[in-house]
Amino acid sequence: MPDKTRLVKVWDPFVRISHWALAVAFLAAYAIEDEILTLHVWLGYLAGLVVVLRVAWGLVGPRCARFSDFVYPPRVVLGYLADLAFFRAKRYLGHSPAGGAMAVALWLGVAASVLSGLAAYAYQGKGPLAPYLGPAAQASAALALVSPAYANDDEGKRGERKARKSRAAEAWEDIHEALATITLWLVVVHVAGVLWATLVHRENLTRGMIDGRKRVENGLDPGASKGAPI
Ligand code: HEM
Ligand code: HEM
Repeated sequence: MPDKTRLVKVWDPFVRISHWALAVAFLAAYAIEDEILTLHVWLGYLAGLVVVLRVAWGLVGPRCARFSDFVYPPRVVLGYLADLAFFRAKRYLGHSPAGGAMAVALWLGVAASVLSGLAAYAYQGKGPLAPYLGPAAQASAALALVSPAYANDDEGKRGERKARKSRAAEAWEDIHEALATITLWLVVVHVAGVLWATLVHRENLTRGMIDGRKRVENGLDPGASKGAPI
């Protein structure tokens, strides 16, 4: 049979640019932490904006960008993962069932990180949520301003001067850090999954996310219907 393998455009420019913008913004925000808080916050806003726009694109964008093309029931996702583990998973032109589930998990994780960051920021009296979190946040911010205290460091020694924070402010910071760290672990699993699928299908998925193209074999129409494996 003649080899009819060819490359077709799968990921439109919006999907590709939003992917790499999200990856850079998220990883940079995580790495910078509160060292340079203003930069951290703006990187976080960028990540949040990308998620909002990408979700809208998931409703109106081209076929492979749509939720309807890559959201599958959990049974199908688990079946795909089992097949992937044994090197017998089918190829999909768009996201595979596991790839689609991971994309949704990553968007939710980034959104939760951003929202909890907004709450933590409001407790410092800053950001768009500050006026809405009520007197508790205002009082917390005022307390930090007027009464910097000597905080003990981890070894219990008298540490440098630090702003005193309310319990709620500290709780939101802890929640924010926990959500961001869970999302970072999702990213680790995401990249491992991409590398594993790259091996199983002998196809460089990362290059696909850069140039937008994937392989179609033997002239088969790569998915006239949802999720048609190829
Ligand atoms: C730096 C290492 C990364 C690599 C190599 C990478 C690679 C990829 C690839 C190849 C895909 C497409 C998978 C497929 O063919 O089904 C993808 C999708 C995706 N990745 Fe990554 N990724 C990276 C980092 C990240 C980070 C840090 C995030 C988010 C915090 C992220 C979020 C996503 C999302 C949401 C999708 C779905 C894209 C869409 O449909 O718009 N990735 N990634
Ligand atoms: C992609 C999004 C984000 C990630 C991955 C992220 C991650 C983190 C991490 C790892 C920390 C360090 C926590 C600690 O060690 O105490 C932190 C701190 C902080 N983040 Fe974010 N963040 C994100 C978005 C945001 C946004 C959008 C805001 C505000 C609008 C924000 C506000 C803060 C604040 C106020 C702190 C400092 C808390 C303190 O003073 O200790 N973050 N963030």
